[in-house]
Amino acid sequence: MLARRGRRWGTNWTERRALQALANPLQVSYVDDNRADKGRIMAKITYVEHGGKEHVVDVANGLTVMEGARDNGIPGIEADCGGACACSTCHVYVDAAWVGKLPKKDSMEEDMLDFAWQPDPVRSRLTCQLKVSDALDGLRVQMPEKQI
Ligand code: FES
Repeated sequence: MLARRGRRWGTNWTERRALQALANPLQVSYVDDNRADKGRIMAKITYVEHGGKEHVVDVANGLTVMEGARDNGIPGIEADCGGACACSTCHVYVDAAWVGKLPKKDSMEEDMLDFAWQPDPVRSRLTCQLKVSDALDGLRVQMPEKQI
């Protein structure tokens, strides 16, 4: 299983992240799956497509911003790795007014953003790393022109 479609396994970033997880599982951050508070309180989040079309949805606390997009069929957030911080295809630009209100990026998110499409050093975030809570009510994010 080390070769797929005639190429060496482990040469794309998703596979490299999987290899990193095998080598050092304690350094891999997965979104907290303790979702006892899911479904109780909702935060209103606005997702703006690259072309400007807006989607305003209520996302339950405990989900991630990526899961809010996925569960509501919002285009522009692909989330190929399912939220394991291993693909950067859930990249968005956070509205400037929200940049300072969000939890800081950890080193894994910073590293993965290097592989996102046209990342912005200040506004870019991976939505799988943003957990929804009351504090995110009103958050506004814009999808990039494309995901990698
Ligand atoms: Fe893959 Fe966020 S879903 S990095």
